[in-house]
Amino acid sequence: MSIFKKKQPAERVLPTHIAIIMDGNGRWAKKRALPRTAGHAAGSKTFKDIARYCNKIGLKYLTVYAFSTENWKRPQEEVNNIMKIFKEYLEDTKNFKDENIKLQFIGDRTVLDPEIQRLMQQSEDDSRNATGLHLNIAINYGGRDEIVHAVKNIVNSGVGVDDITEDMISQNLYTTGQPDPDFIIRPSGEYRLSNYLIWQSAYAEYWFSDILWPDFKTSDLDRAIDDFNKRNRRFGGV
Ligand code: IPE
Ligand code: IPE
Ligand code: MG
Repeated sequence: MSIFKKKQPAERVLPTHIAIIMDGNGRWAKKRALPRTAGHAAGSKTFKDIARYCNKIGLKYLTVYAFSTENWKRPQEEVNNIMKIFKEYLEDTKNFKDENIKLQFIGDRTVLDPEIQRLMQQSEDDSRNATGLHLNIAINYGGRDEIVHAVKNIVNSGVGVDDITEDMISQNLYTTGQPDPDFIIRPSGEYRLSNYLIWQSAYAEYWFSDILWPDFKTSDLDRAIDDFNKRNRRFGGV
């Protein structure tokens, strides 16, 4: 046996916090002449596969955009269907319990159905001590709404105007205590943030693709992470 250790390929670096805009469910369904609801069901399956995979590879934080503050504009039937899929996800606790995934919800939950709010609270409580992936699900989430919410908290705390800092704003966002996302992925061929993590994404890297979310595979995530490894992050320096 050789005394030399086999040379390993250069290790890739994982982002610390990946944020995904799970977009393209409707178009995926349309291409198949299916109702949009079928697209959301397929998107939910993709979400579970990707979350499990992120946990497996040792990612620390994943934040997914499930429903925005603007998505209430959709037909009532579609909104109801998305909420139904979300509720089914929460009821099936093996989605996170068996996986050691720590669940957190970001967004204004106060307007959601009380039973859904109860299940959200329960899954957060049940997974509080999980040591695997920290999974944030953004539901009734809007970046501007989040900043307004933070500003209200700060004003209510009575802090003096001159004492307001960037850190104070970060600490009053739903993602308080978490590192900012360093990698934002948007499939479906759109090149916008759609009010997602607008404060936290100030220095994130972006990755866009034409893949529709239900078609997104773990191999696509791997490709994205490989691209992340090629980025030169300067943060305003040289
Ligand atoms: C994303 O897919 C899911 C939500 C916004 C809830 P879409 O439903 O936006 O799919 P497209 O963009 O119409 O294809
Ligand atoms: C962003 O997708 C919100 C979610 C994925 C939950 P949208 O489909 O709502 O975004 P726009 O309308 O194309 O900007
Ligand atoms: Mg969309």
